[in-house]
Amino acid sequence: MIDLVEKLYKNQTLSKKEFTELLNCDTDTAERLRALAEKVRIENYGHDIYVRGLIEFSNYCKRDCLYCGIRRSNNNCERYRLSLDEIMECCGEGYNLGFRTFVLQSGEDSYFNDDRICEIITTIKSKYPDCALTLSIGEKSYDSYKRYFDCGADRYLLRHETANKAHYQKLHPSAQTFENRRRCLNDLKKIGYQTGCGFMVGSPYQTDECIADDLLFIKEFNPQMVGIGPFISHKDTQFKDYPSGTLELTLKLLSIIRLMLPKVLLPATTALATIDPRGREKGILAGANVVMPNLSPVSVRKKYQIYDNKICTGDESAQCKNCLDLRVKSIGCRVVVDRGDSRNI
Ligand code: 5AD
Ligand code: FES
Repeated sequence: MIDLVEKLYKNQTLSKKEFTELLNCDTDTAERLRALAEKVRIENYGHDIYVRGLIEFSNYCKRDCLYCGIRRSNNNCERYRLSLDEIMECCGEGYNLGFRTFVLQSGEDSYFNDDRICEIITTIKSKYPDCALTLSIGEKSYDSYKRYFDCGADRYLLRHETANKAHYQKLHPSAQTFENRRRCLNDLKKIGYQTGCGFMVGSPYQTDECIADDLLFIKEFNPQMVGIGPFISHKDTQFKDYPSGTLELTLKLLSIIRLMLPKVLLPATTALATIDPRGREKGILAGANVVMPNLSPVSVRKKYQIYDNKICTGDESAQCKNCLDLRVKSIGCRVVVDRGDSRNI
């Protein structure tokens, strides 16, 4: 039998059938995959781990993704918005802790129209010109994306969620189309953002074939960042009784993605750390090179609950930074003070 790990390492891709086979490999093969992904991470980024300060500035959302705890139709979700001053306070605290990338994330909140978003971008970039700014605020028009970019936004995260159209339709109401999601990602890239896509591992109705489609899409799209984490059910959604994605499969996918795109920025996500107390460390050892702790004020953290039991909702930013520094150090790496731009250009 041909060795799929070697083949993936050499060719940086596999056929759909081969990917499906690799997803079901034995534990010895999985360990070889992990070790090779760790080697490739070190070759490209050394032992440096980049840190991004995540600011969840609004949990109002006009979308209704079936899996998400802050979806429009969840009446149990207590909504909040941060003011510009509050956002700037988060940045100030983050800057002092050594963060040089801020990620502004929110639901799709119409209150934050383009003028307001641009005001936030301009204010942050003029006060912290040495920092990169990432947006993660959902589906917008080409013109809106262009305005944010022209104001100084550097990066944009928009997970593609699933590359299989039938699967996409099972996770979203019919008003949210697969085609528009793709249009957004293409626009972002065209405009010149460092762009990130990604998906949930183990989401309802996901098959190995769906995951193989995700991997082929990621290879073809060639993003600068890929965000993946396990699906975790939320009690107020119709998927409340579905099982979470597994640690093993998430780690395997991190390794596969590292081998497919050696220079990509790959976070060990909060969702991964939520399903396993050492999830982030294990993610880094499987090829991840980014961590994204929360910089939001503790008073609102519990309200940005896209899935149940999210970690770190009671910890101050300084505590999280400290905790992360120690965790990363425990596996022989270091969190660096750096914008941490992608080397996948
Ligand atoms: N479990 C894990 N991840 C989720 N997301 C949304 N809901 C969940 C959930 N229940 C992810 C989606 C979205 C990102 C912000 O969070 O992939 O793009
Ligand atoms: Fe938040 Fe460990 S990262 S407490």
